[in-house]
Amino acid sequence: MQVEHADPTNRADTRENHQGDRDHCRTVIDPIALRRAFGTFVTGVTIVTTRDDEGRPRGMTANSFASVSLDPPLLLVCIGRSASSFPVFSTTDHFAINLLRDVQTDVSNLFASKSPDKFASISHDPVHTGAPVLTDCLTWFDCTVHDRVEAGDHMILIGRVQAFGTSPSAPLGFCRGRYAQVKDPLPAGWLSSHDMIVGYLIEADGKLLLVEDGKGGWVLPGAPRRPLKGRLPVAGGRELALLPDETFLYSVFDVDGTNSGYLMYRARLAEPRDALGLPDGCRFFPLDALPYDEIAPVEVRSMLRRFARESAGGRFGIYMDTHDGGRVAMVSATEPWSQHVQP
Ligand SMILES: Cc1cc2nc3c(=O)[nH]c(=O)nc-3n(C[C@H](O)[C@H](O)[C@H](O)COP(=O)(O)O)c2cc1C
Repeated sequence: MQVEHADPTNRADTRENHQGDRDHCRTVIDPIALRRAFGTFVTGVTIVTTRDDEGRPRGMTANSFASVSLDPPLLLVCIGRSASSFPVFSTTDHFAINLLRDVQTDVSNLFASKSPDKFASISHDPVHTGAPVLTDCLTWFDCTVHDRVEAGDHMILIGRVQAFGTSPSAPLGFCRGRYAQVKDPLPAGWLSSHDMIVGYLIEADGKLLLVEDGKGGWVLPGAPRRPLKGRLPVAGGRELALLPDETFLYSVFDVDGTNSGYLMYRARLAEPRDALGLPDGCRFFPLDALPYDEIAPVEVRSMLRRFARESAGGRFGIYMDTHDGGRVAMVSATEPWSQHVQP
């Protein structure tokens, strides 16, 4: 094993001079060896984004992300003083952290470069604070700045999470200066996502779209997997066009006694409800009068009750099944989520 240490032969200070000891250690640590040692810590890869004074999107690759606190919800990222976007991150009051998926090494390389227009080919939206949220990332956190701490050649930027979203894709890893694949990135059951039932909560004008299940009941419009280019097949060979950038994960759960997992998304139609001309077997129900008795299974009914409640308050949570009963993470929003999205 290679050992890197402060060189004792250069020692000029006496044992009593502890300040001298500290200074001594600081000057002889080899930064290249230290960077190599830091680099053995396995991380994900994020793009940290914000907007400058003129509203232009700015962003850089960063793997110094860490979660900090659940209550209040805090995270951090370290911004190097030599980054050209450092002055922007030093003054902004908001930023977003976008965790990359395993196939996004090109996005990481782009945002680690000095390209003058990193966002030209990257789809992004403002969600809550206005910071660019990358449409196709693994997980995002939209934050207001909670604090900044000067720390040597970096600044620790601490964010308070105002909204976040996640997806069941595999993450991009980074270790020893190279991209890494994460083995078995998802909990048991998630890997077989081809077995998962993907459902869509499509709300328009206070009503929710349901489709007949062929057995006298109603189900959410769905697909065996996420539909291509936002085109969701419904009855009679018809398709509904969804706004692809406005699809948010809402609930992930298993159903007792079956092998199926459910992945539920909130989504919006690409055209107004009136203009749709819905095919037979599809109907919009008022959210306060959903036909619960005709909807199975019980897990979907309870999710719909939560959706109707949260829709009234304009504040949505994300539910994840866990071994000890499941958790809902709330998305903080002072306005309904749809109002944060640019037309
Ligand atoms: C995987 C990876 C992780 C990185 N992590 C950080 C980081 O945590 N903080 C940082 O300041 N720079 C980090 N960088 C370097 C910046 O992305 C790079 O300096 C970039 O050019 C900064 O962009 P800018 O100069 O346009 O602001 C990382 C680069 C890579 C490839």
